[in-house]
Amino acid sequence: MGARAVLLALLLALSAQGRRFLAADAAVGVNWGTLSSHRVPPSVVVDLMRANRIGKVKLFDADPTVLRALPGSGIQVMVGITNDALAVIAGSAAAADAWVAQNVSRYVGRGGVDIRYIAVGNEPFLTSYQGQFQSYVIPAMMNIQQSLVRANLANYVKLVVPCNADAYQSASVPSQGVFRVELTQIMTQLAAFLSSSGAPFVVNIYPFLSLYQSSDFPQDYAFFEGSTHPVVDGPNTYYNAFDGNFDTLVSALSKIGYGQLPIAIGEVGWPTDGASSANLTAARAFNQGLINRVMNNKGTPLRPGVPPADVYLFSLFDEEQKSILPGNFERHWGIFSFDGQAKYPLNLGLGNPVLKNAKEVPYLPSRWCIANPAQNLDSVANHLKLACSLADCTRLYYGGSCNGIGENGNVSYAFNSYYQQQKQDAKSCNFDGLGMITYLDPSMDDCHFLVGIDDSRSSAVSSCGCGACCMVWFLFFWVFMYLRMMGFG
Ligand SMILES: *[C@@H]1O[C@H](CO)[C@@H](O)[C@H](O)[C@H]1NC(C)=O
Ligand SMILES: *[C@@H]1O[C@H](CO)[C@@H](O)[C@H](O)[C@H]1NC(C)=O
Ligand SMILES: *[C@@H]1O[C@H](CO)[C@@H](O)[C@H](O)[C@H]1NC(C)=O
Repeated sequence: MGARAVLLALLLALSAQGRRFLAADAAVGVNWGTLSSHRVPPSVVVDLMRANRIGKVKLFDADPTVLRALPGSGIQVMVGITNDALAVIAGSAAAADAWVAQNVSRYVGRGGVDIRYIAVGNEPFLTSYQGQFQSYVIPAMMNIQQSLVRANLANYVKLVVPCNADAYQSASVPSQGVFRVELTQIMTQLAAFLSSSGAPFVVNIYPFLSLYQSSDFPQDYAFFEGSTHPVVDGPNTYYNAFDGNFDTLVSALSKIGYGQLPIAIGEVGWPTDGASSANLTAARAFNQGLINRVMNNKGTPLRPGVPPADVYLFSLFDEEQKSILPGNFERHWGIFSFDGQAKYPLNLGLGNPVLKNAKEVPYLPSRWCIANPAQNLDSVANHLKLACSLADCTRLYYGGSCNGIGENGNVSYAFNSYYQQQKQDAKSCNFDGLGMITYLDPSMDDCHFLVGIDDSRSSAVSSCGCGACCMVWFLFFWVFMYLRMMGFG
C-alpha cells in the first residue's frame, strides 16, 4: 500500500471520530524546557504550575524524570518526539510502537499523566535545517498514529507538528500568505491529517525576533497597545505583528483548502535579558498584552471572535544551556528565572492576579566564586574564555543586565557562573589561584550573581523509592521488634 493510500485510509478512519475544537478550549499553557544545569526538581515545577493554575504544559521530549512528576496533577501534557528520532520512526512501525509504549502508554490511564498531544518533531521544517527532517514528518506521523490506534489511545491522544512561522511567508500583507513552495505538498497532507483528527495546526510566533532582526521594524507593532504603523490589507487593518502573522498563516491554510483549521500557538513570548529590546518592561508588556488579547476572544480580522485553540508561552524558565546562535537573549525567555522566581507581575488569566514563586527550591549553600582582589588578572583571558564557553556569560554583553560591571566584575561573574554550574566544587573556583570563594553576595544593582540548585537530592528521592536510608530504618525497626520480643524492650 502506497503512502497516499495509507494516509487516505487513516483519514477515513479518523474522520469518524474527528472532534472539532471549540473556542471555549482556549487556554494559556507553558513550554517547559530543561536545557539547564540548574534544574528545579520536577515535583517543585509541578507544584509551581499548580499554584499558578497552569493547566497545560508542552514538553520538547519525553523525559521520564519530568513525566514521573505529572501523574494526578490534572495538567494536560504535550510530549515531543525530537527531530533526531523522526527518521527511525518514519521508517519503522516497530520503532513507532516502541516510542508510544515507552513514552505514552506507560504513563496514561487512571491516575496517570494526562497526555493529550504528541508533537511530531519540533519546528522540523525550519529553514536552517535545510530540509533534513522534512520528508520524515508525515511518514513518522502516520506510523505513530497507527501505534496509537493499536494501543487504543487514538481517540484521546492527538498528533501535531509545531512549526516555525518561517514555514509560510508573504510578499506584503497577511492576505498574501503562502506556505514555502517546497512545503506545499507536505503542508496539504499535514492539514488534511490534522483536520480529520480534530487537532490544531501548531505555530510558533515571535514578534520579538522580527524586532530584533530588523532595524526598521516599527517597535510599537511588536506590542498590543496599537501602532502608529498599522498594516492595511484591503478591508482589514493590523495593529500588531502577532495578528498579522496569525492571519498570514490563515491565508496560507486557505490557499491549500484548510482555511478553517484551528490554530494553536506552540510558542510565543519575550526574553528579558541579553539584548536591549529584551528587558523586563518589554517582556511584561508583550506577554500581558498577548494574554489579554487572547482572553477577550476578539480573534483576528480573518478569524473574528475566534481566539487560538491554545497558547503555550515560551517559556516557563530561563535555560542557560540553550544555544546562543540566535543571540544572547536565547537563554532568557522564562516568565520565571531558572529557579522558579517570577521575573515580573503577570496575570495569566487563570485566576491569580500575579505569578506565584516556586517553593522549597533546593539551593546550594549561599556562597559564590569571585576574582581574588589580591591577584593580578593579566593572565585571566583563557580562564574567562573557558568559563564562559561552558557556563553562561550572556548577561555580560551589550544589552545584558551585567554589562558595565567593569573588568573585575566580568571575571567574577564568569568565575561564579562556572563554579555554580560545577555545583560549587571548590576546585572549580581555583583558576590558577585567581579565584576565591566568598560568603558575601557579590550581586550589584540589576546584575544578579546566582546560587545554583542542588539537583542530587531530588533525583535520589525519586529514583530510590525505598533507598539506603529506608533500608537502614527497616533494619532498626526489626532489630527493635526482635529485642522487644526477646524481652529486652
Ligand atoms: C522515548 O523518549 C525519550 C526522550 O525523548 C527518548 O530518548 C527515547 O528514545 C524514546 N523511546 C523510544 C523507545 O523511542
Ligand atoms: C526595553 O525594550 C523596549 C522594547 O524593545 C525598548 O523600547 C526599551 O528601550 C527597553 N528598555 C530599556 C531600559 O532598555
Ligand atoms: C566585560 O565583558 C563584556 C563582554 O565581553 C564587554 O563588553 C565589556 O567591555 C567588558 N568590560 C570590561 C571593563 O572589560
